[in-house]
Amino acid sequence: MSVPINELITRFQKELDATTKKGHPEPTAMTLSTVSEAGAPTSRVVLLKAFDHRGFVFYTNLTSRKSKEISLNPQVCINFMWHNISKQIRIEGRAQQVSNEEADAYFATRAKQSQIGAWASKQSSEIEGKMDFEKRIAKYTLKFAASKVPRPEFWSGFRIVPTKFEFWQKRDFRLHERHVFTPTDEQNWQEVCLYP
Ligand SMILES: Cc1cc2nc3c(=O)[nH]c(=O)nc-3n(C[C@H](O)[C@H](O)[C@H](O)COP(=O)(O)O)c2cc1C
Repeated sequence: MSVPINELITRFQKELDATTKKGHPEPTAMTLSTVSEAGAPTSRVVLLKAFDHRGFVFYTNLTSRKSKEISLNPQVCINFMWHNISKQIRIEGRAQQVSNEEADAYFATRAKQSQIGAWASKQSSEIEGKMDFEKRIAKYTLKFAASKVPRPEFWSGFRIVPTKFEFWQKRDFRLHERHVFTPTDEQNWQEVCLYP
């Protein structure tokens, strides 16, 4: 069966709504995997902030380990595990930095303390002195006390442009369903089912 990308996005939205409605505490949390230059994988959780037919967006510090790995190899994988509806969704794709305008618009929606946190955190770098982080928070709190906080240049988002979707559904006796979609052309995605 062949389906357009919008149908896959609608399906994702439907499952996200279902897990949210059933009380998932963090439905947009996704495990993001990247690989080092040497090909070693690593994973961490980030939050999905936007998605549509173009892909799945999260925000982060551009000097972080994940961002450095993405700059060397943009192939990534995100995984959602929604226990309360017995579903897992895996999306493989290529990460592309979002435009400055898109990142600015999202940054502006964040709480002021989170915006200051973005300035203060040298994400993934070692904290050398005991109070260094606190000092940096105090510094930027003072700096932006009377003004709006602009987005730091070293903070932005990535859009994961999907190349593969897998919708996994738990079934009794481990006879789970796996529906995998890969693009056949710009418009159409082909479905295959895999053994569990
Ligand atoms: C529920 C949850 C949500 C998180 N969301 C984000 C996020 O959206 N962006 C981010 O950079 N880090 C987020 N983190 C922190 C990351 O998991 C990770 O510790 C951090 O980004 C550094 O990762 P790295 O050193 O591999 O780059 C989140 C952690 C948790 C547990």
